[in-house]
Amino acid sequence: MAGFPDGGRDAVDVLRELLGAAGRRPLTEPPLWPSDVADDATPVEFSVAFDESGDRAVRILGETIAENPGPAANIEAAKRFLAHMAQWFDLRLDRFAAVEDLFLVDRPQGKFTLWFSVILRPGRAPALKVYFNPLVRGQGAARGLVAEGLRRLGLSDAYDTVAEHALLRGSADQFSFFALDLDDGPLSRVKLYISHDSADSGTVERAAGAVEGVDPLLVRDFLTTAGGGPGPYAGRPLISSYSFVEADAGRPGNYSLYLPIRDYVPDDAVAREHVLAHFARSGLPGAELDRAIAAVTGRPAAAGVGLIAHVSLRLGRFGSGTTVYLSSEAYAVQAPRGRVSASATF
Ligand code: TRP
Repeated sequence: MAGFPDGGRDAVDVLRELLGAAGRRPLTEPPLWPSDVADDATPVEFSVAFDESGDRAVRILGETIAENPGPAANIEAAKRFLAHMAQWFDLRLDRFAAVEDLFLVDRPQGKFTLWFSVILRPGRAPALKVYFNPLVRGQGAARGLVAEGLRRLGLSDAYDTVAEHALLRGSADQFSFFALDLDDGPLSRVKLYISHDSADSGTVERAAGAVEGVDPLLVRDFLTTAGGGPGPYAGRPLISSYSFVEADAGRPGNYSLYLPIRDYVPDDAVAREHVLAHFARSGLPGAELDRAIAAVTGRPAAAGVGLIAHVSLRLGRFGSGTTVYLSSEAYAVQAPRGRVSASATF
């Protein structure tokens, strides 16, 4: 892949390791494991992060699957992947070690246990991020688990900040991911994600208000343009995330809003139009969206829905921008919904 350092391991090597047994399996065989990374059980999803600064990153979210898959075997395979990556790249594993016993349990509940994302930027070594599941010990344990994880990472105050802005609707607001950057830089972050069932714009505007200097109206504007209105979003939930670095004593530096756009459009042609409208408002080049889409599929956009799975807006001092999540659709393309019924969503 162009732009990656010569001689070192490249993105293809990393991807091969990440996918484990699933990566060696022909696509004519059914999925080895029902991964929730993507709707069709493909254990991989691509995303392109467009920064307002002009920077771009390609990211690959993946789940490592063992030869004989199962909850414990997959965790073992994922840890082997991590050990390999630590040999190849400069990783920071102390924070992983500090919280793994909380999240890596014998009988995991929920839709996943351990996911990774590989972040590729031209001219740089791949960076790695790990996702734990706050629901792994059941819904009732999630808040305590997150609070304890934050405490161990020296971010005790972060919990209250998040609770006061994003956990205001009882069980409709739920922790969904606990993520760590595994690189060793000053901006290496801890990231917390909260899903908001049936939320409208007001819920996520309030959530965005936790971050100093972020204008919640940008969140409303994003939903109006990319989502088609202020909601409520009663299909797959809107998700908020906050980024923390150790130095900031529990104050989040960034807020992101994830819109599962595939549930709010009839087909990917409409999804693309919505994302392009948001790009135009944000001064991002629409041609780059089309280039990213063309890199993963040749199918006509109107022939399915779910190619553009999510679109997210990132706001704050660690950098603002938009990220588009693209399904590989390796196993299946979801049929488009009728345009008439879908336009009655709001
Ligand atoms: N497929 C799951 C979902 O759609 C998890 C997921 C994959 C996800 N990529 C994501 C969630 C990006 C939020 C944002 O919920």
